[in-house]
Amino acid sequence: MNLETNYLGLTLRNPIVVGASPFCDNIDASRRLEEAGAAAIVMHSLFEEQIDLEQQALIHHLETPAESNYEATSYFPHYDDYQLTPDTYLRTLERLKAALTIPVIASLNGRRLGGWVDYARQLESAGANALELNTYQLATDPEVSGADIEAEILGIVQAVSEAVRIPVSVKLSPFHASVANFASLLDQQGASGLVLFNRFYQPDFDIDELEVVPRLKLSYSSELLLRLRWLSILSPKLKGSLACSGGVHTPEDVIKSILAGAHTVQIVSVLLEHGPRTIPVLLDGLSDWMNEHGHAELSTMRGALNLKRCPDAAAHERANYIKILQSWKI
Ligand SMILES: Cc1cc2nc3c(=O)[nH]c(=O)nc-3n(C[C@H](O)[C@H](O)[C@H](O)COP(=O)(O)O)c2cc1C
Repeated sequence: MNLETNYLGLTLRNPIVVGASPFCDNIDASRRLEEAGAAAIVMHSLFEEQIDLEQQALIHHLETPAESNYEATSYFPHYDDYQLTPDTYLRTLERLKAALTIPVIASLNGRRLGGWVDYARQLESAGANALELNTYQLATDPEVSGADIEAEILGIVQAVSEAVRIPVSVKLSPFHASVANFASLLDQQGASGLVLFNRFYQPDFDIDELEVVPRLKLSYSSELLLRLRWLSILSPKLKGSLACSGGVHTPEDVIKSILAGAHTVQIVSVLLEHGPRTIPVLLDGLSDWMNEHGHAELSTMRGALNLKRCPDAAAHERANYIKILQSWKI
């Protein structure tokens, strides 16, 4: 059984990638994930705010409430709250590269073009095999249009892709007015691949304390459906690689993601819940299914359920939507 897959031009032994998360901070944990069968690991993100803080030596200002920009910056974590400073991030990357044989993908997280983009070069020099760009932002300003935001993200992707020789992937939000259009612009303008999708952590309300409370909730398999839909729509159209991220918990989830067109699946929640032993379960389930369905190679099953054969995917989607709404009878 050949589970090999090509992701961002890297040959991976199988499609299971450890998604961006704190696992990479611990070299032993990363080694255990590699031993369990992970084909690559994505480091957690190095944030634009973190790099800017270091570059501008503003750390002490942030600790002073009188600081003029306090309103704007106080929403961000205190400097000490970031898991790794830019410098320790680079050192951790070097240690991961020395300890592991699987590819290590660094992650940069920023939303405005700026000096932080230069860090891409340093991550490349420290040995990153690829770079995942996360351009997460919450667009709350009614003066800023979706087109403005997309132009800014495209500018960042282009700048980073031009700065490095390693492949650059983009972790995308599902909340673009036309995901297909934006994905194809990213595909044309330098992204070697897309990660579908970013997962957002919405704050909850505490109705006793009347407070807004940030909560990190792990995912469920039900979140996979949004990814399956867009993988199915995009996989026949894009030349770059596709990773499925969000809601992959079981062997069935892995199989569905690949049938929709993913080259890899990224897993985090299931690893936080069950540890590295999850990986052989996913790989065995995938191999068994391939055996039963006569696939000797992963490449022959990839995209088998995408929308390639449907000439008008949008009509199909709308038709399905109407059908589903009308299926409920009282
Ligand atoms: C504890 C934790 C830390 C994370 N850190 C990052 C990060 O630094 N950068 C990033 O792009 N995503 C980060 N993520 C999001 C994951 O990479 C992934 O997209 C998300 O958890 C969905 O995958 P899952 O359903 O397998 O958990 C984090 C997720 C968790 C649970």
